[in-house]
Amino acid sequence: MLALAIFYLSLFPVLAAAADDSSIGIYNKSTHRYVYHGCYNETMDLPGTIGTRALYGGTNQVLEGEMTVPTCQAFCRSNGTTYKFAGLEYARECWCSQSLSTLSVKFDDDACSLPCEGDNTTACGGYLKISVYTLGASSARHYISSSKRT
Ligand SMILES: *[C@@H]1O[C@H](CO)[C@@H](O)[C@H](O)[C@H]1NC(C)=O
Ligand SMILES: *[C@@H]1O[C@H](CO)[C@@H](O)[C@H](O)[C@H]1NC(C)=O
Ligand SMILES: *[C@@H]1O[C@H](CO)[C@@H](O)[C@H](O)[C@H]1NC(C)=O
Ligand SMILES: *[C@@H]1O[C@H](CO)[C@@H](O)[C@H](O)[C@H]1NC(C)=O
Repeated sequence: MLALAIFYLSLFPVLAAAADDSSIGIYNKSTHRYVYHGCYNETMDLPGTIGTRALYGGTNQVLEGEMTVPTCQAFCRSNGTTYKFAGLEYARECWCSQSLSTLSVKFDDDACSLPCEGDNTTACGGYLKISVYTLGASSARHYISSSKRT
């Protein structure tokens, strides 16, 4: 009983610190022409998907201890193939795909709360959750063009 109490006491401050880690932000520089699309769910455990991933049919890379958002974006644009989507999952995985499954549910951004293993200031998805980036016009660009019109 005493051992259990000590275990909880020593565990709690660590969990509390991890839970309100506000130092993790969303990587939002358009270094490789990708813009943030949102935090999306994995799909392979959903009924009827036969294990298909949310970002399917493309390629992927795991960089333990080194993955960052721009590293993944560069990978998804390498070798002459430019994938429309680049997604970071489980802190170290990069998924490139031309399509995002319509079965993938969008969560609040803070559901993607794992820091990238190569840059602990930015989010790289979560367990079965993906920080998804897509090629194209950023919301900043939309904002500028609409303010020009007025
Ligand atoms: C990018 O994110 C940072 C912090 O997460 C924020 O301060 C900044 O305004 C964002 N920039 C754009 C262009 O969204
Ligand atoms: C999120 O994905 C997981 C794993 O595929 C699945 O078990 C869960 O039902 C999904 N949740 C929603 C809300 O789609
Ligand atoms: C590009 O080629 C390298 C070397 O063959 C390979 O390791 C990498 O997976 C390729 N990238 C993509 C996005 O397919
Ligand atoms: C984040 O990474 C920096 C540089 O590697 C390191 O000094 C710092 O302790 C890390 N912070 C956390 C919360 O892991």
